Amino acid sequence: MGCTLRPVSTPGNVAPSTRPPSGAPPPPGPPVEPLAAHLRARFGLTFSPHRRKELEAKLARQLRLTGLGHDEYLVDLARSPDDAPRVQELLAELTINETRCFRDPRQLAAVEEVALPALADAHPGPIRAWSAGCATGEEAWTLALLLERAPALYQRPLEVIGTDLVRARVEAARKGEFGPRSLEGLPPDVRAGWFTPSTLDRERLDADRLRCRVSFATHNLVRDPPPPGPLSLVVCRNVLIYYDDPADQLALVRTLIEPLAEGGWLVLGHAERPPEGLAGLEPVSRSGAVLYRKRAGAALRTWPVLLQEEPPPAARVIAPLAATEWPITGHAPAPAPAPPPAPPPAPPVDPAARLADAMARADAGELDLATGLLLDLIAARPTAAMARVLLASLAERRGELGRARAWLEEATYLAPADAEVRRHAAAVFDRLGLPVEADAERRAAAAAERST
Ligand SMILES: C[S@@+](CC[C@H](N)C(=O)[O-])C[C@H]1O[C@@H](n2cnc3c(N)ncnc32)[C@H](O)[C@@H]1O
Repeated sequence: MGCTLRPVSTPGNVAPSTRPPSGAPPPPGPPVEPLAAHLRARFGLTFSPHRRKELEAKLARQLRLTGLGHDEYLVDLARSPDDAPRVQELLAELTINETRCFRDPRQLAAVEEVALPALADAHPGPIRAWSAGCATGEEAWTLALLLERAPALYQRPLEVIGTDLVRARVEAARKGEFGPRSLEGLPPDVRAGWFTPSTLDRERLDADRLRCRVSFATHNLVRDPPPPGPLSLVVCRNVLIYYDDPADQLALVRTLIEPLAEGGWLVLGHAERPPEGLAGLEPVSRSGAVLYRKRAGAALRTWPVLLQEEPPPAARVIAPLAATEWPITGHAPAPAPAPPPAPPPAPPVDPAARLADAMARADAGELDLATGLLLDLIAARPTAAMARVLLASLAERRGELGRARAWLEEATYLAPADAEVRRHAAAVFDRLGLPVEADAERRAAAAAERST
């Protein structure tokens, strides 16, 4: 059988096309360099050259919405405090808020089967978990339910802290109330036992019945110190993929693992891994997922003490914790901690060449090698959507249908308006025997083509 990875419409051309069909160059967007520099200096957010188009589109949208000119907008932004609507709207616009309850069953199974029993044995006393980059709270509440249900943790004091950069998301998270998309992967027994209908099609978690105490705070993972330790479990899924700069990735993961107790566990998204050069984490595989256990004596950075009380929000639904009340105010630029040692520069990756190489390997039946090339590409270019489509195709050839679907879901989520990605996704969905999904992809591809 021929290779299943070949481009559908333009053989040999694997790079997503951004040119309008007429051949006319797109009109110039607003200059993004000043905004990129401001975001970097103020929040530690980086937009590498290949994300500048995206930044340009988002800036253009903010200019349209506010009715301000470019310079006027930047001055206004610079003068606005972190919690001003203008700043928060921009942060919300620039970060992706895709989340669901019980989002990755294999990973949750690994946490239930491996991490929680190990913690019960190794950590006497309270079990404290942190959902970092929790968006609207689905992940933090999932963690709370997981701890609550774990037989090994029966009668243990339990605590979950959820944090996110965007204030509106943190406020939504506190409510513990979700719409149908957030709830679609919820195990039926959890839904029946813990959720009750609230307004319209939303359902609310019965948080008062949880033994687990849950609190939320705004927090910038690149800039702010972590919550005080010791923590038993830190979950930070689908945040690292948006940070291209290896130094940012290192800083972010160090912030995650610093408060972890020895033997504590770190959970990243399934396409994410700790950056090169970070010692002190031992990967543990189970149920098709990888968790990371903090080794004894892992030396990390020490943060200056910056903790301050955050005034309680007007309508806090979940009572704060007495013993371990956290958060910090967030967003205060930390007095520069000692910079981490610079990792050696990675050799540049040419995405198109890497994709072509991976396809050639797959054609030759070298599926593992092709997979390795694509995972490396994703490590170098975390938002590479086409690499994910090809990984889906490889997973399909191995008969790993759930994994194939998960890769496709990530690809289309990262590149919703990329016609080429969506056409390839359609082809893989067809091979997976999912005609409805394939048709939806073809329609999305056609819409994307019309809009360019
Ligand atoms: C794609 S969502 C992931 C939500 C959840 N972890 C999950 O996987 O279901 C990414 C979230 O990370 C947050 N985020 C991005 N950069 C952050 C930072 N520097 N500090 C804190 N949160 C951040 C965004 O605001 C967004 O809500």
